Amino acid sequence: MNLSIPKESLPSEKRVAISPDNVAAFVKLGYEVRIECGAGELSNFPDSAFEEEGARIIEGKEELWSQADLLVKLNPPNMEEATLVREGSNLISFAYPARNEELLKVLGERKINFLAMDCVPRISRAQSMDALSSMANVAGYRAVVESSHAFGRFFTGQITAAGKVPPAKVLIIGAGVAGLAAIGAARNMGAIVRAFDTRPAVKDEVKSLGGEFLELDFEEDGAGSGGYAKVMSKEFIEAEMKLFAEQAEEVDVIITTAMIPGKKSPVLITEDMVKSMKQGSVIVDLSAEGGGNCELTEPGKKVVAHGVTILGYSDLPSRLPTQSSRLYGNNLVKLINLLGQADEFAIDQEDEILRGALVLDQGKLSWPPPKVEVSTQPAIPKEAPKPAEEAAEKGESSIFSPGVMLGALAVILLALGWKADHEFLDQLTVFVLACFVGYMVVWNVTPSLHTPLMSVTNAISGIILIGGMLFVTGAQPWLDTKSILAGVAIFLATINVAGGFLVTHRMLKMFRKE
Ligand code: NAI
Repeated sequence: MNLSIPKESLPSEKRVAISPDNVAAFVKLGYEVRIECGAGELSNFPDSAFEEEGARIIEGKEELWSQADLLVKLNPPNMEEATLVREGSNLISFAYPARNEELLKVLGERKINFLAMDCVPRISRAQSMDALSSMANVAGYRAVVESSHAFGRFFTGQITAAGKVPPAKVLIIGAGVAGLAAIGAARNMGAIVRAFDTRPAVKDEVKSLGGEFLELDFEEDGAGSGGYAKVMSKEFIEAEMKLFAEQAEEVDVIITTAMIPGKKSPVLITEDMVKSMKQGSVIVDLSAEGGGNCELTEPGKKVVAHGVTILGYSDLPSRLPTQSSRLYGNNLVKLINLLGQADEFAIDQEDEILRGALVLDQGKLSWPPPKVEVSTQPAIPKEAPKPAEEAAEKGESSIFSPGVMLGALAVILLALGWKADHEFLDQLTVFVLACFVGYMVVWNVTPSLHTPLMSVTNAISGIILIGGMLFVTGAQPWLDTKSILAGVAIFLATINVAGGFLVTHRMLKMFRKE
């Protein structure tokens, strides 16, 4: 059985379905790999690179298409190509079945099996085959590159002899696959990155990439079924647009990726917002194909309006063809592995991934597939309030309520002030103040500063150690209360110092390459 890769026919397309690195995997599965002459040229993969890995170069489109057993490509075939497909063969490519009815009809007449890469369900097991995510990842990265190219300043802040350069501020709307890739890329270029998404579940991912997650004072979770977002209420959209209007005046770059599969992209950036942006600002609208998130976007084009450059490019993955082709090729290897060895080739419809991707089954339309339960992040159940919290909420007092505790403390202090001597009261005051100041200092330290904080506590332990040693050496007789307490202090401080060294050593080990 042969696996044939044609040259992509879209004029702007620079990608190819596989990279030379993938050939060995297909040969191992028993396929004879055939590739059209020059198919990888624009992705920087010369024919010789495929040949070296064991592929056969085929001259001529017709020769390749008419003898293909399993044809793999990126874009859906055009109408002319559809008539070249061999009857009863197999095809894997993007299909977009919802908008390609006519094409599916023509291919159906060829009685082929058609697996659509864009219909692979978004379930955990299919992550390695998810070509939409691979391409969105590339698009998110490239959106940042395009925006920095169109933007007249650095992304990173600098202090130079010629003056201070403030960092660029980037707003990302929609923190899905493309949005997260954009956050990572913009942060790595040194920009200040803010992001917003209707699904609060992505907040931690945004933060872990170094972005700031903007929040709305509006209760509505955007997580829908199938791991995708749901259409939000009109009130929510109005509230988020108010937030974007405020941000538009401040930020230099906006990258929008907001979409709900199968629906028109919501318009979130109006012409007024564009007007309010600084001259030279940039908007990259990744959702241009689905209608655009910006009112002024023109799909596939660069427009300049009110001094703002708006990029509506819909070929971002193709602008990084080497990377995209490698990732798509890897996705294909994983999917074709599911189909088994070449001599046992079968589309097992019991497998939810293959069933989801199958749009034509021997020419018969099998799309849309039955619904698959996809892995979504489970909603965090709200903890039932504890009785004390419940009582506090209702305003009832319990013996551990803060009011009662404070009252008890006041009584103890009054009693002490009445009975205790001066020296004791002085020391108690210093002790209480030290506890308070220590608490305030330690409690407000952000987690990223815990390592320096550890050094400080180690230094304090060092002081305690020296103090303890001085007490012990000066003590006459040896076993009085002071020297026992000093001994205990030395012991505890030693644990802290030794523990500090041990933990630091472990942390350093985590960063060491074996
Ligand atoms: P995704 O589904 O992973 O992410 C979309 C995100 O938008 C989700 O996190 C969702 O919660 C969020 N969202 C939906 N409605 C929103 C709203 N009203 N406000 C804020 N956030 C909202 O999708 P993915 O894969 O990241 O793709 C994003 C977009 O990029 C899609 O429109 C896709 O077609 C496009 N794309 C464009 C390419 C290009 O060359 N221009 C290439 C690849 C993808």
